[in-house]
Amino acid sequence: MKIAIGNDHVAVDMKNEIKAHLESKGYEIINFGTDSNERCDYPTYGRQVADAVVSKAVDYGILICGTGVGISLAANKVEGIRACVCSEPYSAKLSKEHNNTNIIAFGSRVIGIETAKMIVDEWLNAEFEGGRHQNRIDMISEIEKEGK
Ligand code: RB5
Repeated sequence: MKIAIGNDHVAVDMKNEIKAHLESKGYEIINFGTDSNERCDYPTYGRQVADAVVSKAVDYGILICGTGVGISLAANKVEGIRACVCSEPYSAKLSKEHNNTNIIAFGSRVIGIETAKMIVDEWLNAEFEGGRHQNRIDMISEIEKEGK
């Protein structure tokens, strides 16, 4: 499975640890984030990872900034993206099972690395349940189309 990862300057260390964690489990990680601590703009990376997901160049995306908020907001502006910020694994798991999230985001200034690993593990292992949940996702897509 191919996963795109993106981050801004406050999340370089966490990105590298998550990348190593997932590579040790056999995932292929494509790094779209900055590797520098120089101040940069999170929308750049949110967009690049979102584009990789909607073009199907990768299966899923992971985004990290200080809070996970800005970078996920940017990603959610790309049609077809369902990105959510999680600070604990329960919401991460349910976000896949019920909301079919294709990007998970979290904050390097909010959670520690062990929680971040748990979040990505639960999220990647979870499966979308479809059924009534698909109807609701279709409703979200309608909102997206009407807003154009
Ligand atoms: C950078 O200072 C910070 O604003 C950014 O990482 C993120 O938390 C924005 O949502």
